Amino acid sequence: MNKRETFGGRLGVIMAMAGSAIGLGNIWRFPYMVGEEGGAAFIILYILASFLLALPIFFSENIIGRRSGSNAVGAMRKMAPGTAWKWVGVLTVLSPMIVLSYYSVVGGWSVEYLFKALAFDFTGVPPEKITGFFSRFISSTWEPVVAHTIFIALTAGIILGGVRKGIEKFSKVTMPMLFVLIVAITIYGLTLPGARAGVDYLLKPDFSKIGAGTIASAMGQAFFSLSLGVGTILTYASYVRKDENLLVSGVGTAVADLLFAILAGFAIMPAVFAAGIAPGAGPGLVFDTLPFIFNKMGAGIPWISAIIAILFFLTILVAALTSAISMFEVGVAYLTEEKGMSRRLATLAVAGGCWIIGILCSLSFGPLSGFHVFGKSIFDFLDSLCSNWLMPFGGLMFTLFVGWKMKRSDVEDEFTNGGKVNQKAFPVVGFLIRFVAPVGIVIIFLTNLLL
Ligand code: PFF
Repeated sequence: MNKRETFGGRLGVIMAMAGSAIGLGNIWRFPYMVGEEGGAAFIILYILASFLLALPIFFSENIIGRRSGSNAVGAMRKMAPGTAWKWVGVLTVLSPMIVLSYYSVVGGWSVEYLFKALAFDFTGVPPEKITGFFSRFISSTWEPVVAHTIFIALTAGIILGGVRKGIEKFSKVTMPMLFVLIVAITIYGLTLPGARAGVDYLLKPDFSKIGAGTIASAMGQAFFSLSLGVGTILTYASYVRKDENLLVSGVGTAVADLLFAILAGFAIMPAVFAAGIAPGAGPGLVFDTLPFIFNKMGAGIPWISAIIAILFFLTILVAALTSAISMFEVGVAYLTEEKGMSRRLATLAVAGGCWIIGILCSLSFGPLSGFHVFGKSIFDFLDSLCSNWLMPFGGLMFTLFVGWKMKRSDVEDEFTNGGKVNQKAFPVVGFLIRFVAPVGIVIIFLTNLLL
């Protein structure tokens, strides 16, 4: 039996978990969801969902993962042998593979944009042309598939490096760089003429826009953004040392993730209004808007715009990679530990499966755009299936497992590191895990189904 690796230290754990959480979900998905779902009111719901529904699940996955020291299926096998809980493990190994498939299509878009930035293709180009470029690019057959392939290959390459050398090192360097860049863009974006409308959009809630669908989308965004309900945090937690404080790493990750999303909103939305782009433009929003901001930031000097664009698309790519590797690792941990595969073969298997499904997602913007599942394109269908249903469902199961199946003394022992830390917080966290999160998720599911 291989000795399992662990993350090096506290900073490493938070960085790796934050690396999983912070990604395209914050920079690409959050701004366009805010735009589609009506602005500030959506943000308020998203913040509520993050703390009341998502954070308890973050703790639950941490408790299960660290206690079992296993992948999602192994954890259920060890902690509830011979029961149907196994299927929760299976579901939470399969669902991140679906997310990874379409996630890497968008990862591919950031690869393409990085190449474009390196070639100075955006500098000096007016907003309409940039918008035109995006729609032409995603609807073409080969280019986005090639970009998706490059993204999957990069992810697989890092996975082969192993937990500590690959994932941890990578996250530590790039996350701070991304933060600095987003802050710079936000500050600059706020000075653009016309930016005020964007700020109002983000700060003035219009509650009349909220329906059952909005609440479900806000919950979905919270789960997607914190990488929950798909065994990812569970698997990472299995590499966390026993003396690590789960409350600190959980709250640290959730706050960092939220901060990045809100910052990305403030970096993008004012510029969306300043450039005259519709906030509800959908998945292309960020890709249409950013080149516009970079051109402005360059003050008419091409190489300055190009350097900003290169740095930004590079960090988006890296943020996407640190999230993609966390999903990838779920499949690899399962195949190596449960199926006895070598790390190399497991990596190849995961990459191959996600590559194929990803191709279908990519083509659903072009040649397969007429093909619909439940009225949605393949990409949109898989995204809403995973974010709005599978992830909250997986999360619900994890809270039920920790709150009602595990022995309370075991849960307490794990969360308090054997009574050494977090004793005061435990009853509150326990209440959130047992009641608030599961009841909240079920109510949102039901209203979304019935209304
Ligand atoms: N949380 C990631 C992001 O916001 O980009 C996406 C993600 C990572 C979803 C890992 C699911 C997952 F298991």
